[in-house]
Amino acid sequence: MAALETKDLTKKIFAVKAVDNLTLSLPAGNITGIIGPNGSGKSTLLNLLSGICKSDQGKIKVKGRALADVNPHRIASYGIARTFQGVRLFNQMTTIDNILLALSEKSFFRSLSRRTEKNLALRANEILRAAGLADWAYKPAGELSYGQRKLLEITRVLAAPADIILLDEPFAGLFPEIIVKVSALLKKTRADGRTVMLVEHNLKIIRELCDVVYVLDRGKLIAGGPPGETLSRPEVLAAYLGN
Ligand SMILES: Nc1ncnc2c1ncn2[C@@H]1O[C@H](COP(=O)(O)OP(=O)(O)OP(=O)(O)O)[C@@H](O)[C@H]1O
Ligand SMILES: [Mg+2]
Repeated sequence: MAALETKDLTKKIFAVKAVDNLTLSLPAGNITGIIGPNGSGKSTLLNLLSGICKSDQGKIKVKGRALADVNPHRIASYGIARTFQGVRLFNQMTTIDNILLALSEKSFFRSLSRRTEKNLALRANEILRAAGLADWAYKPAGELSYGQRKLLEITRVLAAPADIILLDEPFAGLFPEIIVKVSALLKKTRADGRTVMLVEHNLKIIRELCDVVYVLDRGKLIAGGPPGETLSRPEVLAAYLGN
């Protein structure tokens, strides 16, 4: 089954069709890559799928259910969580509080019982240990290095109670040892049966992680399929070389 589907999705930003008549589907329990030159509409697609902006035309379905009039605050109720291009954390909050906030997403505005609070704290510690961030748990997130903050952001989004995870260039600017860690986290996420959409420029990472890849060029879908054959198609090479 498709976790996410778009049909004829179109979004204009000023005169530009940032996303142009896009029809694609993300198989459930897979990692789907989205690639394309700068400005090809990848982040705009993610914004549409997460309710940050509204399409001009077309439809989005989440697990077969139409995504209608959704706003970013309600997207969690569809089981969708996302990261942004660049790091967005609560820098004044501690590392562990950033995770706790994600864990308690659904109950955040209700007061938590003592017992739930304790369980969440245990779980947050476990998550930070698995990501190799346990030593920074009580430091403000703003004091971590760029790579650690990026890792924390990914860890935080994976901690959210969501079964569809949208990631906008999570590997950008990371050192090889953190790339290995993030790759392992994403493989684990897939093994847990969750669905991942990965916007990424690094084709080696796409080949290693993705089951399916879609290629955008100026808002349009120009190719899609398993990475091996898709990335060697002439139109895909041309879009990249022409970039
Ligand atoms: N806030 C904005 N104001 C003006 N134009 C925008 C804005 N956001 C996106 N665009 C335009 O929409 C198109 C798609 O941009 P988008 O950011 O989705 O591309 P992208 O594939 O994510 O690029 P990148 O690889 O650089 O992140 C581009 O032509 C871009 O210039
Ligand atoms: Mg982008």
